[in-house]
Amino acid sequence: MGQLDFIRDLAKYGLENDQDKLLTVLNDLIEHSKKTRKINFALQLQSILKEAIRQQQTAGLVAVGSQKHILREEDREVNEFIIEKLTSDYKLNNLVCSDQVRSELTYFIKEHNSLEILGRFDLPISNKVLFYGPSGCGKTLAAYVLAGELEKLMIVVNLGAIVSSKLGETSKNLAKVFRKAATEECIIFIDEFDSLGKVRDYSQDHGEMKRVVNTILQLFDYLPKDSIIIAATNQIDMIDDALLRRFDLTLELNLPTERQIKELISKTLRSGIFTFDNKKEADKLTKLCAGLSYYTIQRTLLTAIKRSLIEMGQNLHVLSAKIDTKIWRILVEKEKQERQ
Ligand SMILES: Nc1ncnc2c1ncn2[C@@H]1O[C@H](COP(=O)(O)OP(=O)(O)OP(=O)(O)O)[C@@H](O)[C@H]1O
Ligand SMILES: [Mg+2]
Repeated sequence: MGQLDFIRDLAKYGLENDQDKLLTVLNDLIEHSKKTRKINFALQLQSILKEAIRQQQTAGLVAVGSQKHILREEDREVNEFIIEKLTSDYKLNNLVCSDQVRSELTYFIKEHNSLEILGRFDLPISNKVLFYGPSGCGKTLAAYVLAGELEKLMIVVNLGAIVSSKLGETSKNLAKVFRKAATEECIIFIDEFDSLGKVRDYSQDHGEMKRVVNTILQLFDYLPKDSIIIAATNQIDMIDDALLRRFDLTLELNLPTERQIKELISKTLRSGIFTFDNKKEADKLTKLCAGLSYYTIQRTLLTAIKRSLIEMGQNLHVLSAKIDTKIWRILVEKEKQERQ
């Protein structure tokens, strides 16, 4: 069956309200998409299907009308705490990092691809990762890489909305989000994990922070082994020690070394489609980039590429371009000055 046949059957059974056949076709389409390597599409369909089944079960199980209302309300609330549900095409080779970080990430990915054998020996699975380091050095990117490599759906949690000034609310909100995520076999990505520290400022009561930390620890313990938590922060000192210890893998993504700057530049140049007009000057500028983040370096280079192309004029037949290093120098120097 081709994709059009699936669409025809979905439309037919959907309009006929034939739930059983609709579900069969949907499941067949998910399998078909996996086989034809449309993994992201398959994951999205799977998530829609699970969500629908869960809602039906809730509606069926809870007979009392008012309780049903409460559950629906909770669903709505939880959705406010979730920024996005997404799939990712990023792979390890998109991330420039130290050999040690690469090797740890590789083992983590292999571990999650070997759950069956590890489970047979009852070995614990690492499923809590913390990325830390300065802004623009790949923490969010690394989370996308894990989602892409493991072909898992990723739920991005809005910690800002979860942390509440109301006593007791933060723990409750966290529990709701984790409960939802546990039904999905997914990656939960908590960016700006240090926002939890705000609980301390909101409340003079020491107990509140303890309560939040305890809730998270409990939620960590009950996490299904095929779910993964990824947290990211650029202020690791703000995070409670008791929490830090519970991560299975804590990786620092730091400012790039000279070798890493070169690797980033060569990836950004897209295997020779873009080249520098002056190799010696480009080498000097590469050295000048020391101290800037991956993000900033990449942005200056992409801007220089765009401006060089614009300067070249509108010849649509060109398939490659020379980067004007004078333009790049101005951009890099400006960034360096701003950081002094
Ligand atoms: N280590 C890296 N390797 C390759 N590209 C990178 C790396 N770090 C950053 N980049 C580039 O910069 C962009 C922004 O990086 P990212 O969002 O991952 O930074 P971050 O560490 O999460 O920063 P922040 O703390 O501000 O959230 C990435 O999408 C990518 O294009
Ligand atoms: Mg980030």
